[in-house]
Amino acid sequence: MTDRVLIVDFGSQVTQLIARRVRESGVYCEIHPFNRVTGASLRDFAPRAVILSGGPASVVDIGTPRAADEVFALGVPVLGICYGQQTMCAQLGGTVEPGDHREFGRAWVEVADECALFHGVWSKGGREQVWMSHGDRVTALPPGFRVVATSEGAPFAAIADDARRFYGVQFHPEVVHTPHGAQLLRNFTHGVAGCSGDWTMAAFRAQEIAKVRAQVGGGRVICGLSGGVDSSVVAALLHEAIGDQLTCVFVDTGLMRLGEADQVVSVFRDRFNINLVHRDASELFLAKLEGVTDPERKRKIIGATFIDVFEEEARKVGGADFLAQGTLYPDVIESVSFIGGPSVTIKSHHNVGGLPERMNMKLVEPLRELFKDEVRALGRELGLPDDMVGRHPFPGPGLAIRIPGQEITRDKLEILRKADAVYLEEIRAAGLYDAIWQAFAVLLPVRTVGVMGDSRSYDYACALRAVTSTDGMTADFYPFDMAFLGRVANRIINEVKGINRVTFDVTSKPPGTIEWE
Ligand code: XMP
Repeated sequence: MTDRVLIVDFGSQVTQLIARRVRESGVYCEIHPFNRVTGASLRDFAPRAVILSGGPASVVDIGTPRAADEVFALGVPVLGICYGQQTMCAQLGGTVEPGDHREFGRAWVEVADECALFHGVWSKGGREQVWMSHGDRVTALPPGFRVVATSEGAPFAAIADDARRFYGVQFHPEVVHTPHGAQLLRNFTHGVAGCSGDWTMAAFRAQEIAKVRAQVGGGRVICGLSGGVDSSVVAALLHEAIGDQLTCVFVDTGLMRLGEADQVVSVFRDRFNINLVHRDASELFLAKLEGVTDPERKRKIIGATFIDVFEEEARKVGGADFLAQGTLYPDVIESVSFIGGPSVTIKSHHNVGGLPERMNMKLVEPLRELFKDEVRALGRELGLPDDMVGRHPFPGPGLAIRIPGQEITRDKLEILRKADAVYLEEIRAAGLYDAIWQAFAVLLPVRTVGVMGDSRSYDYACALRAVTSTDGMTADFYPFDMAFLGRVANRIINEVKGINRVTFDVTSKPPGTIEWE
């Protein structure tokens, strides 16, 4: 079995980054909330090493989170990061106190001694950049530990107990602002814990295929294909695992981008030879959306119509025992919430929620353990075309939410599709596609006056949006140069009949959202 590392989550904003770094080094890991980690779960998971994450609580306060004591009795290496270091020290007989010198952001540590964590990057006497974010600090070490790095605000910036292979760092090695952080983590997982680093996409593919076969047996699986990365990778993987036991249903809402529906059909039916039901439901979706301008109503109608059509097509196929979904790891990590209470719904996202229960199907979710870029790597491994695998995210309700405040009509969809295609073509030609999280055109509900040739025009305005982001939760607008924007505007106005003005959206998220509706 591949080596596994357990990350015990104390609710840090950056716990997922620890997992990213560990996986990038070829070691499989999972994040488990601290209050779910017990002696039994530890034995079950059988980690080769344990990493204790940071967190917002204070070890000094009563009733704050602790690691299960069994973590320190497993005989495997333990690395405590920030809060993780503090709780480890408190639990093993050291002292933690509120600091009078808070450190946030960039800081420097002095390397006080050699340490297995520093191998190949830091040596005794060096001064190294790290990223700190803490108020409390360790003031007395538990028996067996020695100090290996210090900083102004943390006399015990890094500590080591070589005999037990327990290590602690007050700084965050998982963030890029600790330039050697990835190597420090690698030194822990590979050097100290002896993980082999053999977790690759090829290994994952083989392992997942075996798992799917074991789960599905001779059953039938249905998979909703949207043309997006996640569902495409699920379909390709399942096809490899179970061949004709898989049927994919592609519901064409008529709200997709230029050429997208054709690509889905040509890749999956013609190239992969997958059983594919292609239902053109654009008439139905447009009819249901007639006269609707409210964003939430649009979303609800599209979501409900999608489920109806999908269900109808699934029935025609003769039913299935399983529904395959492209659920990703960030959706299944149970995050530790210190705030509590439900969060506000900003937008109701559309998916096939509720379908498995309604149709009495079990779920197959082969991507549950992967982050988005790992899904992309798996897609490439499975032979999906690069432009499909590297595609920007596209919302379920499609172009309907990029025609804000107006009724959706075929004509408007046509205009928007063309403008969007010109914009993306220019982005690709400039080599910027992969640097951008998402880029698209929005058809505005306003007509403006222009002059084209000798005559007056009175046409729609369109807005261009492009953002950078790591997870869609926050975003910054992409800083194109003016010459690029001018070129795109010029082409759109010349080539797309119906648009005579182009604007560029410079709103970040928050306070804006990525989509306009
Ligand atoms: P917002 O607009 O909320 O979008 O900043 C964040 C990310 O989610 C996508 N998005 C959706 N995806 N159904 C989806 O499947 C939806 O209803 C939906 N609304 C927004 C959006 O494109 C961005 O990537």
